Amino acid sequence: MPVDRSAVRDAARYLRNVRPIDPDEIREYVEGRPDARVVRRILREEAGSLGLVEYPDGTFRPPEAGPIRPTFESVTEVPQQYVSVVEDLLLDRDGRHWATGESGAQLRETIRRFKADYYRQHPVEYDEDVALGYAIYHLPAYYATAQYVLWDLARDGRLDRSLRVLDVGAGVGGPALGLHDLIDPDGSEPALVEYHALEPSAAVTVLEPLLETTGQNFHWEIHRETAEAFDTEGPYDLVLFSNVLSELDDPVDVADEYLDSLSEDGTMVAIAPADRNTSLGLRSVERRLEAGGATVYAPMVRLWPDERPDVDIWSFDERPAVTPPSFQTRLAAEADRPEEFTHTSVKFSYSFLRRDGLRRFDVAADARPVTKLAETDRHVTDRLDVLVAKLSRDLSDDGHPLYTVSDGSERERHFAVLVNETALNRPLLEAAYGDLLSFERVLVLWNDDEGAYNLVVDEETIVDPV
Ligand SMILES: C[S@@+](CC[C@H](N)C(=O)[O-])C[C@H]1O[C@@H](n2cnc3c(N)ncnc32)[C@H](O)[C@@H]1O
Repeated sequence: MPVDRSAVRDAARYLRNVRPIDPDEIREYVEGRPDARVVRRILREEAGSLGLVEYPDGTFRPPEAGPIRPTFESVTEVPQQYVSVVEDLLLDRDGRHWATGESGAQLRETIRRFKADYYRQHPVEYDEDVALGYAIYHLPAYYATAQYVLWDLARDGRLDRSLRVLDVGAGVGGPALGLHDLIDPDGSEPALVEYHALEPSAAVTVLEPLLETTGQNFHWEIHRETAEAFDTEGPYDLVLFSNVLSELDDPVDVADEYLDSLSEDGTMVAIAPADRNTSLGLRSVERRLEAGGATVYAPMVRLWPDERPDVDIWSFDERPAVTPPSFQTRLAAEADRPEEFTHTSVKFSYSFLRRDGLRRFDVAADARPVTKLAETDRHVTDRLDVLVAKLSRDLSDDGHPLYTVSDGSERERHFAVLVNETALNRPLLEAAYGDLLSFERVLVLWNDDEGAYNLVVDEETIVDPV
C-alpha cells in the first residue's frame, strides 16, 4: 500500500511548532504505520515546502531564526567529492586516460579557445566540451571566490538561515557549491536553502551531477532558460550573477529586472573577474543600477550624501591561490606550458546591491572635518584630511605600497601611496579590502602617468581605522 504522503505532511505540520519531528513518531499518525525509513524519505522530499531542516540527530525542525554565522577563514582547495564528480564525467567520456592523447589535446585546445574568447570579449558557446573545459579550468577558483564574496555578506548578518536563492547563469556550479559549503546546510545549526539555478547551456551536464552531491537541506532546481526569458518567480533573498553580466547583451536591463525580484531585505550579488574590462564593466552596471534606484551596499562606498563617483573604479580583492585539483594538474602535465591550464589565483570584483537603502557604512562624511575626493583638484600639493575606503590589495610592483581608495564622490581615480611607513600610518598596510580609513594630513599630488590623484602617506600622515 502506498504511504499516504498528505498524512505525513499533516502530521509534520501539526508537530512542527510543538516538538522536533521524529519519523518514528510520525509513522504512528499514518495509516498502516509505514516504515520509519520511508517516512524519513518523504519528510526529506517535503522538508523544503514544509519549512523544515533535518538536524544531525535525525529530527526535522524549522531552522533557527536569524542569520547564518559561518566559521570561515579561507578556501585552500576544492573538496574531493566534487573533484571526483568532474573526474567521473571525464572518465565516462574519454576513458581512464582522458588527460592524455587526443582527448587531452582536445580539452586543452578547448580551454585555450575559450580563454582567448573571454580575453577578446567574444561570445562563448557552452557546449559539452566547453562545459568540461570550464569545470577543469574555472571551477576551483570560482568555487573559492563565491565563498569569499558571500562570507563578506554573511559576516554582516545579511544571509538568513532560511534562504531562497537564484543563481543566474549558474554554469557548472562553482558558485553554487561555494554557497553550499559556506552555509554548511547540514551542520549543527542547519540552514534551509531553496536554490534555483538558471542555466540555458550544456553546462548543466556538469552542474546537475555536482548538485546531486549537496546535502539534504539544500533543495535545488535547475531551470534551463535564459535570464531574459525566465519568469523570475521571486522573491529571492539572494540573486547571484557570477561572471555572467559580461556575457549578456543588455546587463543593466536584465539585472534591473532581477532587482525587482529581491525580497525586501534581499541582496543582489554580482561577481566579475578582476581583469580590467570585466571589472570596470561591473562598476559601470553598478552605477547605472544605482541611478535607477538601487543602493550600493558594499564594497564600494558612498560616504557623501548625494555624491556619486563620476568614474568606474577598477577595484578587486585577491585571496590566497587554491591548490590545483588533480583534474587540472593531470591535464596540465602533458602541456608544453602547464601554467596555461592551472588556474589557481583567486582575484575578483564584486558588488552588493539592495533595494532597502541599506549600506554597510552608513557614514555621513559631511558631518566630519574632512574634504571630499571630488575636490582634490583644488588641493594639489596641499595636505588634507579625508575619509576613504581601501579598495585594493597592494598594487605596486615592489615599489611603495599603493592602494586604490574611494569615498564615492570622486571624478578621477585616487591612490594612496605609502612612501614612509610609521607606527601612525601603518593601519593603511593592515586594513583589509573594503575597510574605512581616515587620513590626516595626506599630501595630494596629480599622477600624470596614471591620470589619477595620489594621496601620499608619509611621516606627517596619520591613518586610523574608522
Ligand atoms: C562565465 S560562465 C559563469 C558560470 C558561473 N556563474 C561561474 O561563476 O562559474 C557564464 C554562464 O552564463 C550563462 N549565460 C550566458 N548567457 C546567459 C543568459 N542570457 N541567461 C542565462 N545564462 C546565461 C552561460 O551559459 C554560462 O554558463
